[in-house]
Amino acid sequence: MHTARLTIRRVQPDDLGDLLEVNGDDTVTRFLPYPTWKSATDAQLWFERMAALQAAGATAQFVIEHRELARVIGSCLLFRHDPASGRAEIGYVLGRAHWGQGLMHEAMRGFIVHAFGTLGLRRLEADVNPLNQASVRLLERLGFRREGLLRQRWVTKGEVSDSLLFGLLRDEAQP
Ligand SMILES: CC(C)(COP(=O)(O)OP(=O)(O)OC[C@H]1O[C@@H](n2cnc3c(N)ncnc32)[C@H](O)[C@@H]1OP(=O)(O)O)[C@@H](O)C(=O)NCCC(=O)NCCS
Repeated sequence: MHTARLTIRRVQPDDLGDLLEVNGDDTVTRFLPYPTWKSATDAQLWFERMAALQAAGATAQFVIEHRELARVIGSCLLFRHDPASGRAEIGYVLGRAHWGQGLMHEAMRGFIVHAFGTLGLRRLEADVNPLNQASVRLLERLGFRREGLLRQRWVTKGEVSDSLLFGLLRDEAQP
């Protein structure tokens, strides 16, 4: 997938150096369900976990490449893909140096077109910590609706957190 500034493509082992920079930052991983990466081994173990999930069929992991910078600046994934129901969940992460430039909005616009168009999905979901204001705002700007608040749903990094569930239907996606 190509957008004005970005290319979104499947992850490859060569991307792990750039992804270590993205995920090796406590501020970036604060709301993510995995610890901050500390080493190339953490990156490799993540890659192996993703490869196993992809082989099982319900997950597809992508990287977000900034064409002008010629480097990977983030990643996004589709997971819990249920083809019978035309449904999947999305996740995304961007390196801190690139926040606040509309880059994830641009990436997700492209990703959503791919999910509803090429993949033929009918519904996308996202599960967000309500304290993660950047992610909440991003989803709302993409047209996702708040569908529910699940209290004390997760324990991550020693903290109990609520879940805001968001949904976007193909019929209501922005053109
Ligand atoms: C969430 C994240 C991907 C947003 O990426 P981004 O490229 O900075 O977002 P965008 O620039 O496209 O901005 C999207 C909207 O969120 C707003 N926003 C961005 N950072 C914000 C912040 N810290 N607080 C409040 N709003 C914020 C932007 O202003 C924009 O809204 P607007 O168009 O009304 O101005 C990025 O902050 C990130 O990678 N966070 C860490 C990983 C993460 O939490 N992933 C999501 C797990 S559910």
